[in-house]
Amino acid sequence: MDALNYLGLLVSILLIIIYKLNSRRIQHKNLPPSPPSVPIIGHFHLLIKTPIHQALTNFSNEYGPIFLLRLGSRPTLVLSSRTAIEQCFPKNDIIFSNRPLLPSRKKLEYNHTITAPYGDHWRMWRRFSVIEIFSERRLQMSSEIRNEETRFMVKHLYKNSFKGVTKVDVKTLFHLLAFNMAMKMVAGKRYFEYEELLEDSETTKGKLDDLVEMFSPLLTVSLGDYFPFLRWLTYYGEERRLLKIHKRKNEFMQALIDNAHDQNTSSSTSVNGQKTSQTIIDVMLKLRETEPEIYTDDLIKGTIQLMLIAGTHSTVTTMEWVVSRLLSHPDVFQNARDEIDNQVRSSRLINDTDLAKLPYLNCIISETARLSPGGILEMRESSEDCTVGEYHIPRGTQLLVDGRHVHRDPGLWTEPDRFKPERFLESEEEKGMFKSITFGIGRRKCPGVGLAMRIMALSIGSLIQCFDLEEARYESQGPLKTNMNKPEKIRSLEIVFRPREALNEVIAQL
Ligand code: HEM
Repeated sequence: MDALNYLGLLVSILLIIIYKLNSRRIQHKNLPPSPPSVPIIGHFHLLIKTPIHQALTNFSNEYGPIFLLRLGSRPTLVLSSRTAIEQCFPKNDIIFSNRPLLPSRKKLEYNHTITAPYGDHWRMWRRFSVIEIFSERRLQMSSEIRNEETRFMVKHLYKNSFKGVTKVDVKTLFHLLAFNMAMKMVAGKRYFEYEELLEDSETTKGKLDDLVEMFSPLLTVSLGDYFPFLRWLTYYGEERRLLKIHKRKNEFMQALIDNAHDQNTSSSTSVNGQKTSQTIIDVMLKLRETEPEIYTDDLIKGTIQLMLIAGTHSTVTTMEWVVSRLLSHPDVFQNARDEIDNQVRSSRLINDTDLAKLPYLNCIISETARLSPGGILEMRESSEDCTVGEYHIPRGTQLLVDGRHVHRDPGLWTEPDRFKPERFLESEEEKGMFKSITFGIGRRKCPGVGLAMRIMALSIGSLIQCFDLEEARYESQGPLKTNMNKPEKIRSLEIVFRPREALNEVIAQL
């Protein structure tokens, strides 16, 4: 152990020397402006001290829309205006079509199978996912899953409204819904029962926390990735803890694959040798029969993990914001309800196929995402030297596009701070390249946008159609409005769902 420590220290010192020499080599080039930094740490401390979006806004105001930060050993280019983005994309799209390969994530990301650099492997996975998960045909095939899960949610909220327990924590509710939808697409079975939430919310929250914890290492910043000299320390500390959690997650995923394999080989779930409904695991196991070297366990687990984490985290955060915006904008709520009533009447619950006829509902979601982007900050990394505007960007530079800044740019949006869903209805004036970048940019932008929009519109639309939402407030804070204007992490929001009289008969029959 001692010898290992010394070795770690030696390697770290060597890395710092290499880094210093490298910095000197590129110093004479015209790099983007950068705030004053501290040796070794760079600007890391500045992003921890202030909420990250605020820190980025401050830098942008001072140094312009193209600036460079050093997050430990990782140079990071930040673009925070549409003009800046246009100087980088599409020109450098391929160069920036890589995700940083963080050493602490190698195992957690199943050998970086899904975060792979731009190349043959990534293109193969992207083709697979676009055809087998996100295509229009697949979305239609999975529409019954979304319809059924939404029906379940409405039914149980309705039942709940007759019981003593009336307040529902929407984040937990949406997590249940999103996990269930994702699990059904991936493995064909839901993970939570809504009764559990209503009958014993503490146990359900415990079960949910457990599931969220399993995927949390992927959202955790490991200092060893930014300070190589600390890697030997984090490797024996934080990373070990994360690997323990990963082990549990891995067992969970392995069980899903084994289960699917057993079901596929048993005749009980098949009709004439054909499975009645094909899950994502089924499709991958089938493809493995002809291409075992591609459809490895790592690739299958990487895909399941991605569906469970990418498919839930951003979606749930955005949905929670939508509910809070609706509460503080009753006129918007009423407009959305009128639109649903005009299209669907009050004779049945809306379903996935109605969504195309509900543009205002979709605008509410786009507008919420503009003001409060729910996505995590996804980095890119350059695979070779390039230029952005007049600046030289060295190979290995991370890229962060500050969507929040672009989304509130008064030069692009009229009354940028106002929640105004109809702006997305209004002709091309509010659209345009790189204006609304909630789902990213270029080749590596989010492939789940169609699925995400359907999940969010259907579940929020059903709630608007069937319930009056009341008495929302933070657990320990004052009135909702004052908190919701802050774009920081959202706190727990509790809602009373009162069934709408006009829909009573429809809901009672679900
Ligand atoms: C409101 C919901 C969502 C938001 C705001 C969101 C946003 C994003 C963003 C900003 C990125 C990075 C794009 C870039 O680097 O340019 C991304 C990547 C990704 N998202 Fe989403 N996403 C959402 C839902 C989903 C869903 C439902 C899925 C699938 C189940 C999904 C799958 C992915 C995948 C696979 C990537 C990585 C793409 C790659 O690296 O090649 N996302 N998402």
